Amino acid sequence: MTLQEIKKNFQEELKGIFSSEEIDMFFFMIVQKEFGFSKSKTLASLKEEVSMGESIMIHGCLNRLKKSEPIQYILEETEFYGLPFKVSPYVLIPRPETEELVDWVVQEYKNHKSESLELLDIGTGSGCIAVSLAKKLHWANISALDVSKKALGVAEENAQHNQVEIDFFERDILQADSLPKSYDVIISNPPYVRESEKKAMQKNVLNYEPHTALYVDDEDPLRYYQKIAHLAKKQLTSGGALYFEINEYLSEELIELLQNEGFKRCILKQDLFGKDRMLKCSLDE
Ligand SMILES: C[S@@+](CC[C@H](N)C(=O)[O-])C[C@H]1O[C@@H](n2cnc3c(N)ncnc32)[C@H](O)[C@@H]1O
Repeated sequence: MTLQEIKKNFQEELKGIFSSEEIDMFFFMIVQKEFGFSKSKTLASLKEEVSMGESIMIHGCLNRLKKSEPIQYILEETEFYGLPFKVSPYVLIPRPETEELVDWVVQEYKNHKSESLELLDIGTGSGCIAVSLAKKLHWANISALDVSKKALGVAEENAQHNQVEIDFFERDILQADSLPKSYDVIISNPPYVRESEKKAMQKNVLNYEPHTALYVDDEDPLRYYQKIAHLAKKQLTSGGALYFEINEYLSEELIELLQNEGFKRCILKQDLFGKDRMLKCSLDE
């Protein structure tokens, strides 16, 4: 079988599920991963025969795409903030909105090189936030926690792969009485999708991404924020700040909750799509 025939096969088998452009993109991504070919090299090699083993492997990927499995899990990798990350079904696939949160922190601290900077990422998952911050704010001391041991394993691999040092530790933040030390920056993208919002979600998210990373009860959707704010109140340094990724529908309730916890200067930011998505607050006037 030639690459051209496989490419055609992708279009035939996946039409109706994805757009033609998406299908081609998946084909090129899979060929890149398996053969190391750039898109132009793939296009120049379309007439080449692939071995039986290679063809079986590519068709395995095609069958997974047909079941709406995210391409990132199939390839076991993704890119975040310009860096390579390994992903597995134990971790959430890093989202572009989260890159915006990381960039907010990077822009605010990139010129503070002379100051010591203690930073904690709560619910690190793949480690995308912690690793990106460690790469860009290389003088900072970065810690990151998660309740999932398997997620922490992936995060550690990502730190090694990107050559940064991070102090990872396993902790259920909802059960924590305190944090290990004081921090200048506490950042978190905790679970925030209400059970009732599930019906609006795509099959690829619902069926494949870890539910502990995403969902919260309708009755208490801000419980992670409440707990983190409560802990941060005691362990943010003077001048320190809390940064959150948030549920676009709950920004007002969240600001009220944070103000009730004693936080001031809540700054809300919208994501690329104009939705309330990020919030910064501090204890200082
Ligand atoms: C929305 S994901 C964010 C992952 C990653 N930081 C990102 O932005 O892509 C939330 C993360 O919180 C973790 N988590 C859920 N419940 C937790 C808990 N009780 N204590 C600590 N981490 C928790 C999940 O395992 C998951 O990795």
